[in-house]
Amino acid sequence: MRAIRGAFLDFVDDPWRHVGNERAAARFLPDGMLVVDDQGIILDRGPADEVAPRHPGVEIVPIADRLILPGFIDGHVHVPQTRILGSYGEQLLPWLEKWVFPEERRYFERPYAEAGVRRFFDNLLASGTTTCQAFTTAQPVTTEVVFEEAARRNMRIITGITAIDRNAPDWFTTSAEEFTAAATTLIEKYHGVGRSSYAITPRFAYGASDELLAACGRLKAAHPDLWVHTHISENPSEIRGVLELHGDCADYLGVYEKYGLVGPKFTGGHGVWLTDSEFRRLSEAGAAVTFCPCSNLFLGSGLFRLGRATDPEHRVRLSFGSDVGGGNRFSMLSVLEDAYKVGMLNNTQLDGSVDPSKKDAAEAERNKLSPYRAFYSVTLGGAEALRLEDRVGSFDIGKEADFVVLDARGGPSAMAWRTGLPAGGGAPATVEEAAELLFAIMMVGDDRAVAETWVMGERAYARDASGGLVGSTRGAP
Ligand code: GUN
Ligand code: ZN
Repeated sequence: MRAIRGAFLDFVDDPWRHVGNERAAARFLPDGMLVVDDQGIILDRGPADEVAPRHPGVEIVPIADRLILPGFIDGHVHVPQTRILGSYGEQLLPWLEKWVFPEERRYFERPYAEAGVRRFFDNLLASGTTTCQAFTTAQPVTTEVVFEEAARRNMRIITGITAIDRNAPDWFTTSAEEFTAAATTLIEKYHGVGRSSYAITPRFAYGASDELLAACGRLKAAHPDLWVHTHISENPSEIRGVLELHGDCADYLGVYEKYGLVGPKFTGGHGVWLTDSEFRRLSEAGAAVTFCPCSNLFLGSGLFRLGRATDPEHRVRLSFGSDVGGGNRFSMLSVLEDAYKVGMLNNTQLDGSVDPSKKDAAEAERNKLSPYRAFYSVTLGGAEALRLEDRVGSFDIGKEADFVVLDARGGPSAMAWRTGLPAGGGAPATVEEAAELLFAIMMVGDDRAVAETWVMGERAYARDASGGLVGSTRGAP
């Protein structure tokens, strides 16, 4: 058992439900204490002067002049794309052919997969990300290695073998039978073991025949507690291809609905071009979408309609995702930076300055990614979208003690004057000051602001004074 003492900020509600008073969704302890038991579970929390007397003799780890948040949640990321993030020149479909499929093929060999997977988790921890929902490849070995490495690091993960049998080279695809056999073995071995959860993972409707989607549907019917993770409505050429391949479906979501895949544990990555009808049906199903702004900008996929997805008429559960390597950054801080900019770009239309008939002040307001909305989305909001809110996402007693320690002075030199923090330290005293600091971190800072990352009450990553990595790159070549 140990106690961490410092400034803690987490969320108790969705800030989009508190327009005009978003601080009501946040919980800030300028001098707080988090007591963690030997299993890594939060045993107690609150103001340090109230909590400390309840645990006499407990080891106290002071973390001064920092802001401590729940570990970040990356709702959509590709493990075997760790090496190809930021690859030049193409939009989604040619980018997959040129960069992604050849690199993912290398992960069919266990040694390459092991080295790449270690680097993937090193990058997550250096970014403050402690939970992810991830793609692997269509071969079992990659999925095994990902589950094993996550377990070795005691990290929470949702993943599963990828299903693809169309619109990819022969050496990349598998049949519905091969997919079902491999998935069944992996589910038995890994689902619900430690912090691992299994997701049925059709890559996208453009890469799936009716037989393959039916196989996914049968798996979900046989194991209703499994997650479903896929892509949806990312790119116009992709969407056109999906509607040609699945001509009996009226829209992209309709394909997944047809096979019984859309429900509370469903996540569709991207959703850039979702219609209002699709948003409404996702909302009614309790399903989630992952907003991947770095990727949507990098691949030129489009501007996700954040203000529409958060319309209280049909609020869709949202996680935010890096989508590495479509996204060119692992850092969820960079994801927030680009998410903010996407909201501002959407508002150039919605404020009526281009076309007065398109003006929608309420949607424009919801597009504005305040620091409350931003950090809720990568903590509790992400957990709610992934249906993990009873385990992670906030500092509630009984949850797993994953957290990130932010240092607003780590980052570009411009940060010092922007934040006004003294060289030696300084921490916010109020929730408004904390929010202002967090906005500076997401817009001006970068992953150098991640001083430490803790997993289940243990320090898993710390940045050293020179900006290097400590306790990381374990065994990486
Ligand atoms: N759609 C199908 N596969 C992928 C992928 O690997 N990345 C992205 N961004 N979209 C996809
Ligand atoms: Zn993706």
